[in-house]
Amino acid sequence: MNKTINKAIFPAAGLGTRFLPATKASPKEMLPIVDKPLIQYGVEECISCGIDEFIIITGKNKRAIEDHFDSAFELEENLRNAGKHKLLDEINKLEHIKFAYIRQRAALGLGHAILCAKPFVRDEPFIVILSDDVLEPGSTVLRDMIKIYEEKQSPVIAVEEVPKDEVQRYGIIDGVMKGGVYEINNLVEKPKPVDAPSNLGIIGRYILTPDIFDILEKQKPGAGGEIQLTDALRTLVKKRPIYGYAINGRRYDAGDKLGYLKATVDFALKNKELAAGFKKFLIEKIKTLK
Ligand code: UTP
Repeated sequence: MNKTINKAIFPAAGLGTRFLPATKASPKEMLPIVDKPLIQYGVEECISCGIDEFIIITGKNKRAIEDHFDSAFELEENLRNAGKHKLLDEINKLEHIKFAYIRQRAALGLGHAILCAKPFVRDEPFIVILSDDVLEPGSTVLRDMIKIYEEKQSPVIAVEEVPKDEVQRYGIIDGVMKGGVYEINNLVEKPKPVDAPSNLGIIGRYILTPDIFDILEKQKPGAGGEIQLTDALRTLVKKRPIYGYAINGRRYDAGDKLGYLKATVDFALKNKELAAGFKKFLIEKIKTLK
């Protein structure tokens, strides 16, 4: 089990505009896929890699995240008295995990959200998870990235080939494949298709080193007027290597309505209790579609 990295940061202070009105007063990170909120999938992914300290960057209207990972005395008593032990175990299974919450006072960008965690990370490498990027169940992406970090001792970011006409939605890398990983030369946030150096889009899994904080402190706003992590990484790559890991398996952009629907269907079809009934429903449904 990984002992090199202990901490994971979950930036969760974004405004979730692509999912309005659902995200007007509720956190995007609490949208459920089947029966678990997006953020819990990311937390469990980290736990399976030996991470045991979580720093969640929250903002306005994000209280539900703290409540979700807190104990719920009345509910627990109720389930205990009703003999619903399986459900009780399910809601308590993360009770031993340490969560810290930091409030980002304004949504100034992903780079700024990560900078808010500086006092708690200090001089350790750390993981960043964007919980609206959901990986298929049993994904080894994070484990593979930790292995690369252990070998290279330099930042590793997850990338995926994205359709050429969607590069504007991503940070895009320019890299050379060597020994199964990309050695990154440059990174651009949300380029126009004509300016994109490739179609390798950065997705929401990063292993970073604390030297990124000094750069973020000086980082000027970039695309969308936000302090962008990609811009800070572009400065960092001039000083040390950064590696891109092309993920295997499926990734869902659950912060987008269509991506969210796709994730829900696939996860429901893999759920033991729901798969048979849901599949039957879908087969019947498809017959009625033109
Ligand atoms: P997104 O680009 O997905 O933005 O942020 P968003 O606000 O969450 O959603 P849309 O695009 O408006 O629908 C990427 C990640 O960075 C976090 C978000 O919570 C998300 O996990 N973030 C973004 C912050 O924590 N703070 C910010 O200021 C901006």
